[in-house]
Amino acid sequence: MDWFEHDDFWELTYPFMFPVTRIEKAEKDVLSVLHLSGMETGHILDLCCGPGRFSIPLARMGFRVTGVDTTGFLLDIAKNRASLENVEVEWIKEDMRKFLRSGFYDLVMNMFTSFGYFQNHSDNMIVLANVNKSLRQGGKFVIEMMGKETLASIFHPVTDEETDEGLLLVQRHRIDDGWNRIENDWLLIDNDRVLGRWKFSHWVYSATELKNMLLEAGFSNVEIYGNLEGGPYDSESGRLIAVATAG
Ligand SMILES: C[S@@+](CC[C@H](N)C(=O)[O-])C[C@H]1O[C@@H](n2cnc3c(N)ncnc32)[C@H](O)[C@@H]1O
Repeated sequence: MDWFEHDDFWELTYPFMFPVTRIEKAEKDVLSVLHLSGMETGHILDLCCGPGRFSIPLARMGFRVTGVDTTGFLLDIAKNRASLENVEVEWIKEDMRKFLRSGFYDLVMNMFTSFGYFQNHSDNMIVLANVNKSLRQGGKFVIEMMGKETLASIFHPVTDEETDEGLLLVQRHRIDDGWNRIENDWLLIDNDRVLGRWKFSHWVYSATELKNMLLEAGFSNVEIYGNLEGGPYDSESGRLIAVATAG
């Protein structure tokens, strides 16, 4: 199995992947995604929804939302959060390569580097083609990740940070396959004890690579931004965002 197919990976990394601050940030980001896509009403697919950071606020606002993810652990958290808030989301446990509902959605979103996980380029292309087919003509796809240009400008082989629980998270990074992919090795340390170690790798895309892939998958137009507020993708950008129109 690949790293992203292990529930354990998502369960053990949950505290620093999805701290409360990141869950809360999505409440604001969701408004930016709606503004960027011009979406006011309709069906939304949150592809790779995780713990429902975006699905739940969207459902609360009255959108009809489908959240798709393969990780049972994260879907359970999402379901519990939704039922505590009494909001309705259609939760589906499915692989992003397989989920397809022809012409159904007005907006599909794929947030927080949830793309480029598959070793084979063709598998990542299947995901984009499925998204294009799942959208109605003219529907929008918003995809958000760290771009290759940004990664290259801030790259350090080793970084460390203190987690909210006071643990030390050491991240080692290695550029692989001629800048096509990055390999990450995370070590979680409590004083002199290693509590966990996770290795994972994924593709990294430049703005042009992402745009060309979206066009090849059948999208008719692709706009590139450097933040969710619609700012330019330039040397100051923290993130890479593409807004693609279904062809
Ligand atoms: C970095 S998390 C982002 C979650 C969410 N988009 C967010 O912004 O909070 C990546 C998500 O992709 C999901 N995922 C990984 N592989 C997947 C696959 N093959 N099909 C569907 N979801 C997958 C994981 O379970 C996880 O929820």
